[in-house]
Amino acid sequence: MEENEILEELREYKQPRLLDILNKVDINKREKLIKQLSQINLKEIEKLYENIKETADVDVGELKPVKSVNPDKLSKEEFDEYEELGANVVKNNKFAVVIMAGGEGTRLGFNGPKGTFKIDVEPKPKYLFEIMADSIARANKKYGVTIPWYIMTSNKNNEQIVNFFEEHSYFGYPKEYVGFFEQGELPLITEDGQLIVDEDYNIRKAADGNGSVFKSMRDRGVIEDMKAKGIEWVYIGQIDNVLLKMVDTLLMGVAIKEKSEIGTRSILKAFPKEKVGTLCLKNGKVKVIEYSEIPEEMIEAKNENGEMLFGESNITCNLFSLNAIDKISKENLPYHKAHKKYEYMDENCKMVEPSEPNAYKFEYFIFDSFEFFSQISIVRGKREEDFAPVKNKDGVDSPETAIKLYNEYWRRHEDGRM
Ligand code: UD1
Repeated sequence: MEENEILEELREYKQPRLLDILNKVDINKREKLIKQLSQINLKEIEKLYENIKETADVDVGELKPVKSVNPDKLSKEEFDEYEELGANVVKNNKFAVVIMAGGEGTRLGFNGPKGTFKIDVEPKPKYLFEIMADSIARANKKYGVTIPWYIMTSNKNNEQIVNFFEEHSYFGYPKEYVGFFEQGELPLITEDGQLIVDEDYNIRKAADGNGSVFKSMRDRGVIEDMKAKGIEWVYIGQIDNVLLKMVDTLLMGVAIKEKSEIGTRSILKAFPKEKVGTLCLKNGKVKVIEYSEIPEEMIEAKNENGEMLFGESNITCNLFSLNAIDKISKENLPYHKAHKKYEYMDENCKMVEPSEPNAYKFEYFIFDSFEFFSQISIVRGKREEDFAPVKNKDGVDSPETAIKLYNEYWRRHEDGRM
């Protein structure tokens, strides 16, 4: 796009602050900004701005609890049948794993990609990426295969993550089976709809949420790559759960048997206000309401036995058929916004440090993909077996709680330890 057209668009889409900045800076800075603007779709920014005014209203009356398969209540025959269905997919090299590691991990207060964080587990400390590598390697050994492993990174951490794997020789995982792909970004905008310029004359953007995974897999050729390899099922999990079991043959068997294109493992919430997404049914379809958007009424709702009505929580242990990923990658997921404090350049090219949240960051959420499917299989997991997240520096869901759960898990499953 020509500079004139860009300036015209800036006027049309009401970006007076940027126009002022462009008028005041020297030619180099102006060119730098113009170059970036040529890659930004201002129409999309307008859509984001519209989104600011929308509230995520949830009508609790419309929602129902989900039904899940409880492995403890299955007969041995049923359990074995599911396991075998899932195991056959893995044994026939039709299974791949994606780990999402593009998040900023701000709550942990660690200066680096979360996967490069080391936790002091027994018998020796391990990096989060190392824990994931060991977990898939264990399944490789069990099923006599090498599972293709993809890692979603972001513009901010891609280089660091790739270098980290090189430095650690991929933790013994065959390098040719590991792929990295970068997720997308969305610009930040202030409360009055303005783009933000930072002190280096960059237009500020941030990773566009873990729901970016589908489109990014398409844009970066991962879907094509998987198709070429004959992959049919893909597990998509998050980097911060040290009990994550990517090769979930039971979940896969249940999904196959129930003819679902998506399977998810849940656990019961530890307490009503736990910071996890809540699974529910809306118009008969599985939906997740994120902890940041859940209404009080839904948190407090009880069934006739006095238990949480919406107790089933999302722990981002998701399995998708490759067909499902292909389909979702062509859809538009909704935006979710977070109100935060961001330093910005004012119309006189002075940096301003706000004292209150002044701008919005936008994200796609992975579980919004569920709405494109009429049926999703849910298997009820157990906290002590399936969920030990590293989120906060201390307190709940911290390295300390994750280490305890990890060590206890491996004391119970000593024979499989690596
Ligand atoms: C997430 C879930 C929440 C669930 C909880 C369980 C979402 C939107 N929320 O919340 O429902 O109960 O985990 O632990 O999924 N990531 C990216 N790119 C991004 C943002 C995040 O790859 O742009 C990755 C992170 O690296 C991480 C995962 O997504 O692996 C979750 O990110 P985070 O923002 O920490 O999610 P939570 O708020 O904990």
